[in-house]
Amino acid sequence: MCGIIGIAGTTETSERLIDGLKRLEYRGYDSAGIAVLQEGELQRRRAQGKIRNLESVVRDEPCDGPLGIAHTRWATHGKPSTSNAHPHAFGGVAIVHNGIIENFRELREELAQKGHNFESETDSEVIAHVIAYYLGKGLAMKEAFREAVNRLRGAYAVAAISKDNPDQLYGARRGSPLVIGRTETESFLGSDAIALAEWTRRVIYLEEDDWCMVTPTEVEIYTMDGKRVERPEQVSNATPGFADKGEYRHFMEKEIYEQPDAVGRTLSNYIDPVERRFHSANLDGWKSTSRLLGSACGTAFYAAATSKYWFERYARLPVEVDIASEFRYRSPVLLDSDRAFFVSQSGETADTLAALRYCKASNVPTVAVVNVPESSIDRDADTTLFTYAGTEIGVASTKAFTAQLTALACVAAGAAQARDELSANEIGDLIDGLLEAPRMLNEALEKVSDVEEIARSLSKASDVLYLGRGQFYPLAMEGALKLKEISYIHAEGYAAGELKHGPIALIEEGTPVVVIAPYDELFEKTISNVQEVAARGAEVILITDRKGAKLAVDDASAIIEIPECHPVIQPIVAAVPIQQLAYYTAVLKGTDVDQPRNLAKSVTVE
Ligand code: F6R
Repeated sequence: MCGIIGIAGTTETSERLIDGLKRLEYRGYDSAGIAVLQEGELQRRRAQGKIRNLESVVRDEPCDGPLGIAHTRWATHGKPSTSNAHPHAFGGVAIVHNGIIENFRELREELAQKGHNFESETDSEVIAHVIAYYLGKGLAMKEAFREAVNRLRGAYAVAAISKDNPDQLYGARRGSPLVIGRTETESFLGSDAIALAEWTRRVIYLEEDDWCMVTPTEVEIYTMDGKRVERPEQVSNATPGFADKGEYRHFMEKEIYEQPDAVGRTLSNYIDPVERRFHSANLDGWKSTSRLLGSACGTAFYAAATSKYWFERYARLPVEVDIASEFRYRSPVLLDSDRAFFVSQSGETADTLAALRYCKASNVPTVAVVNVPESSIDRDADTTLFTYAGTEIGVASTKAFTAQLTALACVAAGAAQARDELSANEIGDLIDGLLEAPRMLNEALEKVSDVEEIARSLSKASDVLYLGRGQFYPLAMEGALKLKEISYIHAEGYAAGELKHGPIALIEEGTPVVVIAPYDELFEKTISNVQEVAARGAEVILITDRKGAKLAVDDASAIIEIPECHPVIQPIVAAVPIQQLAYYTAVLKGTDVDQPRNLAKSVTVE
């Protein structure tokens, strides 16, 4: 979602601001812009579309100066266009904003009556007007900024500069992250530490309802009521050189191939492979838990939904999983012995964060399964169980998903051990199975040519169904989501047994139906469903293992074979062909695979 960069520097900033925006590109955006203070005047350059468009605008009409802000916009209020792109400016103030200002209409009307003219359809523009209004009343920038942010309702991260304060960069945070970066001679603001990593690893995370004024050499942080506060400086682990596709065509392809590593790294943080035992943190708190509540969005939700099968099967723990945006508004009944978990790659998803805060407010212990350290969800949760996928750039989640599955499988198995639900032998068997995941993923990745061939026929389809039973049902939904988001082909995932209760009416001659059914105790039942759709003309693409392939050879139009493996890692391994099918279909369709239309990597608005 929107990305923010600010520099209070000693040398020119335009090029660096644009470089910083490139490091935020992975979040998804539809327009970009910069504003710098050049010889006492604010200069703004903005462009719809990719950052290269902004670069060519700046090339045609150069601007530069040591104080500047920059933004990638993901449209919420007002269509993607140059006039809606940030920075917005009014009365010698320029701002960039991530989030939603809920009371923008009210503020806009109030200021329009006072003679302010608005030039965009955005909610954000009003911020520049409110600051300018207070400056016009004679307040200094520091007071004007504080008054202004106190008038805003909603979720935001904001950065602002004004033409009369040539070395001051302002920032505020409510609901969306904002990080200060420091060197001896310059200060920065960024939506995340990655954006700043090229310039500094010394970071200070603003807390909820903090605002700040930074100059090249000073940092002042305040609460909304004006109290000066200190926040700890940390050394971030973010690396600047991540934005490299190496030998791959797209980040998504690279990330698909990084899965054996991502899963291996995650496993080694949960399991001691030499002792064949779980690290102790994995075993805490499970005895006193009588119910587990999971919330997440999108792909992370499908990881949580898969783990329900593991927690129930292995740890005999009742689990409810919800889409985070539904959870807190359905007035869930929370019990004293509940434990809640929240799965998120970015750690910034607004709905997941809100669900976490809802549980915290009811004193339910909260566990985050998160990929980005120091993200809001990591910081707010009582306990964080990290995934170690590394930075994921492709908007469509791949390695973060399998790393989430891996962490959750380890946690479920650890819970089974802590609750004495499985014998030592059974636990040992699960651990052995889990430790095989990186090797099995490598083997699955080798089947790429089979997948590419099938993607050719999929790319001509207008509707695709995905079916799965048991632990493969969430993966069927994930498969449909992957295909939709990057190839723009309509797809739906269903529980295989549910098909005959309605969706089977969609099957026509040639409708592709992707069935995920590695051999297990439910295999025969799923194959009955395969026969039902094949009898009605469906082209069945079956993802199964050798045993399944032998049994179903006459029922499917095409088979993608994954290696035979322990049941607990079957969904992790079967995720590979699911992702590859979507990827190669999208490549054939020529879509923007890494930054599909309308999507953002980190969804920081509700
Ligand atoms: C789909 C995808 C999204 C995210 C969802 C949650 O490929 O990536 O559905 O899974 O927006 O994001 P996080 O995991 O950052 O909370």
